[in-house]
Amino acid sequence: MSIDWNLFNRDMREEDIYIPEVDLLITDTPNLPQMPPDEIAKGLNRYSRFIKYAIICCDDKLDLNFPYIQFSHATYGKNPKRFIMRNISRLTRMGEIVFDPFCGYSTVGICALEMGRRYIGIEIDPEIYQISEKNLREKDGALLTAN
Ligand SMILES: C[S@@+](CC[C@H](N)C(=O)[O-])C[C@H]1O[C@@H](n2cnc3c(N)ncnc32)[C@H](O)[C@@H]1O
Repeated sequence: MSIDWNLFNRDMREEDIYIPEVDLLITDTPNLPQMPPDEIAKGLNRYSRFIKYAIICCDDKLDLNFPYIQFSHATYGKNPKRFIMRNISRLTRMGEIVFDPFCGYSTVGICALEMGRRYIGIEIDPEIYQISEKNLREKDGALLTAN
């Protein structure tokens, strides 16, 4: 899966997608290191200027001027649900907002909602979006398309 950097960096109006406060941003993004760190931070801050914690899983080292914790793909991939749930549990409380800006099939969203957190995901691919939406339908999540 590849990230569409043009869209991530596009001149998006803030009111398009803007979340006043994010308690935990958590994502697994293989291609994020291809972007300059200040662009990554800027891109994420376009979604919200107040991100309390961010967990970004990828293989290359990111030096972000941004409150975040980095894990490797391998750590994430071993048991994604367990990894996600452990971190949601230690970094957020019930009702707080978990956000995945590259949400794929919403593994993060399903965990967050099962744990009584609120969830916002963004997915650009219409087919993946549909499946993701179906996965979340029974739960009280919000899924946005970046299109
Ligand atoms: C590695 S997958 C998602 C994994 C998911 N974050 C997780 O933790 O399980 C990356 C997803 O990002 C989506 N994507 C790529 N560029 C995007 C963009 N600019 N905005 C939103 N989603 C994007 C891709 O379509 C893909 O579904």
